[in-house]
Amino acid sequence: MEDVAIVGAGQSVFARSCGESIRELCFEAYKEALEGLDITGNDIDASVVCSAPEYDKQRSPSGLISEYLELTPKPTFYVETVCSSSSTGLRVAWSLIKAGLHKTVAVIGFQKMSELSSRDAAERMGRGGDIIWESPFGITMPAGYAMYARAHMARYGTTEEHLAKVRVKNSHYGVANPKANYRKELSLEDILNSEMITSPLKKFDCCANADGSSCIILAGGDVAKSITKKPIWVVGLGAATDTMSMAGRKSLTGLQCAQEAAKQAYEMAGVKPQDIDVAEVHDCFTVSELLAYEDLGFAKPGEGAGLLEDKETYVEGKIPVNVDGGLLSKGHPIGATGGSQIRTIVRQLRGEATEAQVKDAEIGLVHNIGGVGQYGNVTILRR
Ligand SMILES: CC(C)(COP(=O)(O)OP(=O)(O)OC[C@H]1O[C@@H](n2cnc3c(N)ncnc32)[C@H](O)[C@@H]1OP(=O)(O)O)[C@@H](O)C(=O)NCCC(=O)NCCS
Repeated sequence: MEDVAIVGAGQSVFARSCGESIRELCFEAYKEALEGLDITGNDIDASVVCSAPEYDKQRSPSGLISEYLELTPKPTFYVETVCSSSSTGLRVAWSLIKAGLHKTVAVIGFQKMSELSSRDAAERMGRGGDIIWESPFGITMPAGYAMYARAHMARYGTTEEHLAKVRVKNSHYGVANPKANYRKELSLEDILNSEMITSPLKKFDCCANADGSSCIILAGGDVAKSITKKPIWVVGLGAATDTMSMAGRKSLTGLQCAQEAAKQAYEMAGVKPQDIDVAEVHDCFTVSELLAYEDLGFAKPGEGAGLLEDKETYVEGKIPVNVDGGLLSKGHPIGATGGSQIRTIVRQLRGEATEAQVKDAEIGLVHNIGGVGQYGNVTILRR
């Protein structure tokens, strides 16, 4: 079976409100993904469209986007695992190529969240959890992650300052990212003094809703080499699902879906956590990045905060994480997020991340979570 590579990667600017229709928004990412490739849209023989439903009126968006990007009559599919939809889309595209059904597949993720108020979006996202036993009682996304934060604090002595230091780092790198929504450096005090959302998470511990799109183009081995001089190989894939209800979780100090997905991806790639040169992790909240350090094996359980204290997750550190500003700076247009994380790692491995390039990066990892730890996806890429 031939190997599969990423040949093109693009994203739109992530913004609070894009002022465009979803089809125009998707075109922005698609256009960037095709830049510099020896192909046109005619060579793409399938597409996988990824988003969470119910944020805009359009139903069955894959047909609409396929038409606008002139991909008809090639088949298109719709994939959803809430915030990790486009990483799941990448897994589907990889499988289609491996199965020999298609040669070149575009994974298009998008979300236009500005049609809803923050309050309505929170209610909608909460319904991504158990709608009988949990979301009606207030388990929104921030509330769910706040429970993880409290459990981590109780067990390991993690503090609000530790959480805030995640945003200090990510806001620092967000300044240089032209595609990010928030490009202002924040101090520890700014974060600790921001409005309380759900204790212990304050406003700047949270990512913000956004409009945005991403596009990743994959192709099988020989085709990939004929399309680009810099193919980035998909060498490890992991995916797992945890209980929908938080009450069913074995532990609240780590995400089991991430731990399981990481194990699968490392095994498939034949690498260990210490082999990873650069990572993008799902920092929907500051605590989520700390949990990721531990779930991915970058730190032992309870020792994630130490990586930040020692600046090991900065560009010059042992394992640079979210040096594009992360979701905390970029914004989190849920269906587009995984593709944006993958684009960042592709640029790092190609040596094109001029804003914050990790020297000689060869192996990169993407950790993308759906819901409050319901769906875990880990992808390992190699130059
Ligand atoms: C944190 C949160 C509750 C704040 O919502 P809110 O209080 O209704 O705030 P609004 O959306 O009305 O925005 C008010 C202002 O705060 C800013 N803001 C909102 N969230 C922000 C954030 N996370 N970081 C920085 N600024 C933020 C907005 O840009 C806006 O600024 P402006 O007045 O200069 O335009 C909301 O952003 C949220 O729910 N985030 C989490 C999203 C989520 O759960 N995603 C899925 C995760 S898996």
